[in-house]
This record gives sequence, structure tokens and C-alpha cells, in this order.
Amino acid sequence: MSQKNILLIGASSGIGHDLAIKLLDQNHTVFCASRRLEKMRNLEVLGAKIFSVDVTDEEQVNRLVENMIEQVGHIDIVYANAGFAIAGPVEETSIEKVHSQFDTNVYGAARIARAVLPYMREKEQGRIIFTTSIAGRVSTSMNAWYSASKHALNGMVKALAQEVQGFGIHVSTIEPGCVQTEFDSIQLADMKTTTELEAYDSIVKKSHHFLQNAYNSGSTPESTVNNMLKAGFDNKPKLSYQTTLDSKLMFWVQKLIGEQTFGRLILKIIQRNPA
Ligand SMILES: NC(=O)c1ccc[n+]([C@@H]2O[C@H](COP(=O)([O-])OP(=O)(O)OC[C@H]3O[C@@H](n4cnc5c(N)ncnc54)[C@H](OP(=O)(O)O)[C@@H]3O)[C@@H](O)[C@H]2O)c1
Repeated sequence: MSQKNILLIGASSGIGHDLAIKLLDQNHTVFCASRRLEKMRNLEVLGAKIFSVDVTDEEQVNRLVENMIEQVGHIDIVYANAGFAIAGPVEETSIEKVHSQFDTNVYGAARIARAVLPYMREKEQGRIIFTTSIAGRVSTSMNAWYSASKHALNGMVKALAQEVQGFGIHVSTIEPGCVQTEFDSIQLADMKTTTELEAYDSIVKKSHHFLQNAYNSGSTPESTVNNMLKAGFDNKPKLSYQTTLDSKLMFWVQKLIGEQTFGRLILKIIQRNPA
């Protein structure tokens, strides 16, 4: 496998951190970014260049990309992996909070794409791999805005794929289900704090149980990392990769029975949980 110049944003924990270790192990040149520099020190020891970057800050993203170009000349593969989840009833979620969800998960990914595309177009090659989620196709109770952000990102990527194909650039989405990382603790904690209305008490508690159980039996990052490597290195990369057993199952069941029946089925399963 030839050595590639790779930019990985969202490298300080979970899926991105494990991916970085694999890429470094394969001797690629890996530029890693996220807000918490101290959580990437071990990657630096393994050979990564590490940068503290917040994807909600366009200047920081642009500077990171310029810096990488100055140092290594071109970028072969970009993993836009940064993301987090808010949770709670739509009625109780402020629009300000929705903005912050989109600012990272959607606009953050767009900032990264906009920063690297001029260099990839010039080189007439490159791959951008966005970590979306099966939540970009399927919505479950209390996950409305996280799902909305990943649906938006999925939608953007499908159009981008057509826009840049003629420049030799390929884009893919990575769509995990539940993966055991730092992700669920942020999401589940937020679900509990976002609700005050008694009317939602029962459905919030049941949804919380449902999701907690799903994460407890969730996948390790391994299958998702392997699919990210496929998207980066396969001769014929796919547009989308469902990377875990539960995401493959949800993808196919929703396709077969339709969104409305799928929604009813999910709600039935959620309702079986304790309130
Ligand atoms: N775990 C799951 O079940 C699951 C399922 C489907 C999709 N995903 C997606 O997978 C991706 C990785 O998540 P994970 O599960 O590995 O969770 P994680 O352990 O919480 O990692 C999230 C990564 O994103 C970075 N990040 C978050 N906000 C950022 C910002 N504003 N600027 C720069 N970096 C930021 C974090 O770094 P800092 O905090 O240091 O900035 C961290 O490196 C996310 O896009 C998530 O939506 C996860």
C-alpha cells in the first residue's frame, strides 16, 4: 500500500482515535485534529502531527489545511469524523442548542470539505470520508436533532459526490450504529437534562433505557474503522458504508417495511422499557 497524506479530524477519542492508530501503523503521514490536544499525545508519539482545532471555527479549519499543504504538499484522504449528539424532546430543545448541533456535525464537516476541495481539485484526486451515522437514515425518539444533523450531512454528501466526481474526487459516508466510545455518555446525559416537562417523563425514561441498552450491547470501533479504511483505500470505494450489525439491520429493515412501519416498530420496542 503506497504511503498517503491523511487528515483526520475528530481523532482524540473513540472511532477516530482507533483509526489514527491503524493509519500510523500502516506508515501513512497522519495529521490529527480535535479540540483536546492532550488526548492525542499518544498519537504524536506514534508519529502523528497533532493540532487543536474546533470545527466550528472556520479560520482554525482553514489554517489546519494550509499548514498541512505547506508541510506535505497535498492531501490524499480526509476523514471528517468530528461529531457529538444532543438529545431530548424537540419541544424542550432550544433552537440555540440545535444551532450548536448543526455547527459541529453539519457546518463543521462542510468547513472541512470547503477547505480541502481546492487542493484536491488542483491535484485531480482525493477522497473525503464523512462519519455520518445510521441516524442519518433512521430517526428514533429523543434523537431528533442528532438525526436531523446526520440526515442533513448525508444529503449534502450525496450531492457533493456528484459535484466532484468529474474532478477525480470521491466522497463516502460512514454509517455506524451503536459503537462504544465517549459518544453515548454525552448524548445520554444530555437527554436527562433537556427535559423538565412531566408530559415527556415516561417516553424520555423509556427512550433512555432503550438507548443505554443499545450502547451496552454496541460494537467496538473495529468494524467501523475497517470500513473507514475501505473507503480510503479500496480501488472502488462505495458511496456509503453501514459499519455495524445494528446499522446494517436498521438500513435493510427500514428499506423493506418503509419508514412509517419502521417508526412504529421502534416505538413498540421503546415502550417495552421501564419508565
Ligand atoms: N459512537 C456511536 O455510537 C456513533 C454512532 C454513529 C455515528 N457516530 C459518529 O462517529 C463520529 C465519532 O464519534 P465517536 O463515537 O468516536 O465519539 P467520541 O469518542 O465522542 O469522539 C468524537 C470526536 O469528535 C471530536 N469533536 C467533537 N466536537 C468537535 C469539534 N467541535 N471540533 C473538533 N473536534 C470535535 C472529539 O474531539 P474533542 O472533544 O477533543 O474536540 C472526538 O475526537 C461522530 O461523528 C459521531 O457522530 C458515532
